[in-house]
Amino acid sequence: MTVVNRQITLAARPSGYPRVSDFQLVYRPLPAPEAGEALVRALYLSLDPGLREPMNASSATPLSLGDVMPAAVVAVVLRSLDASLEPGDVVEGMLGWQEYAAADTHLLRRIEPDAAPFSTALGVLGTPGLTAFLGLLDLCDPQPGETVVVSEAAGAVGMLAGQIARIRGCRVVGVANSDTMAAWLFDELSLDAAVNSRSQDLEGALAESCPRGVDVYFDNVGGALSDAVFRRINSHARIAVCGQLSQINLEVPELGPRFLGRLISQQASMYGFLLVGFSERFADARKQMASWLAQGQLKYYEEIAQGIESAPQAFIGMLHGRNQGKQLVQISEM
Ligand SMILES: NC(=O)c1ccc[n+]([C@@H]2O[C@H](COP(=O)([O-])OP(=O)(O)OC[C@H]3O[C@@H](n4cnc5c(N)ncnc54)[C@H](OP(=O)(O)O)[C@@H]3O)[C@@H](O)[C@H]2O)c1
Repeated sequence: MTVVNRQITLAARPSGYPRVSDFQLVYRPLPAPEAGEALVRALYLSLDPGLREPMNASSATPLSLGDVMPAAVVAVVLRSLDASLEPGDVVEGMLGWQEYAAADTHLLRRIEPDAAPFSTALGVLGTPGLTAFLGLLDLCDPQPGETVVVSEAAGAVGMLAGQIARIRGCRVVGVANSDTMAAWLFDELSLDAAVNSRSQDLEGALAESCPRGVDVYFDNVGGALSDAVFRRINSHARIAVCGQLSQINLEVPELGPRFLGRLISQQASMYGFLLVGFSERFADARKQMASWLAQGQLKYYEEIAQGIESAPQAFIGMLHGRNQGKQLVQISEM
């Protein structure tokens, strides 16, 4: 039987939220590895909101129509033309929405088989974990007793940022988009308080949850929510802008009241966070996250869709908030 490589490519540029018709399932021959490369079979692929932006023609790094959708992937090595990897090794790399890939072994990170389930290399021990750790600790340096607000605190990055702040001894307030998610943050993740961003009285809910104001704001959402949080920031507050989920599917960015003047009066600092700028810290951060995970100090949640053909629907569902925790697609079994 001839093995084919099923891929999902960009078929059309979305207007607003993507639709299934913006993607195409294509069949290609199995790639042949060259010297220095390995042929791998995907086990899990990661769906990230950050993939939405390069689907736009206006992106700084736009995809072309027909390109394979990009993604971090955990894969098993089938054949290697480089001494650094051998068949059966499990690796992580940017391999895209496809079942097989031939990749330069220098661009693949070998995963220790016994450390944690392989899927965690795309979540708590992967990009979301590093983003939460470095964006919160390296940029904002939260101190015990300080109040930390995390927006989209039930998402892949946010659920880890909230728990890390809690480990640091902070008062942690998580913001999510429903009462159910807010209850989950309080009951399951043991945050000190949780707020529904869609509650009728958001300002009142934040005031009640942050009686001593806000010292650190780890922001994944932006827009009206950030307006409300900015009104509560304390002197010398630190704000990490990690994501702007409220804006990514809009054709035109929202306008509205803004409270940046609070940065002046409070002498606060606001930083744009980009994970790639912290690569020299990845090993330390991953080691600490693995240690907290092994000690049972960090919980993580995954939503796993099945099969490459389910990736578009799962991606769209994630952008609409149908996931709880990290959204993955299982492509094959080990
Ligand atoms: N700067 C960096 O280097 C870096 C690195 C990694 C990730 N990020 C960013 O971090 C953010 C979080 O990523 P993630 O992987 O943890 O995603 P995620 O939270 O697991 O998934 C996206 C979530 O966004 C929420 N959402 C969708 N539309 C929204 C809206 N209009 N307003 C508020 N929330 C909305 C949805 O949840 P609900 O509707 O249920 O709330 C959805 O579940 C993203 O912006 C991502 O791009 C940045």
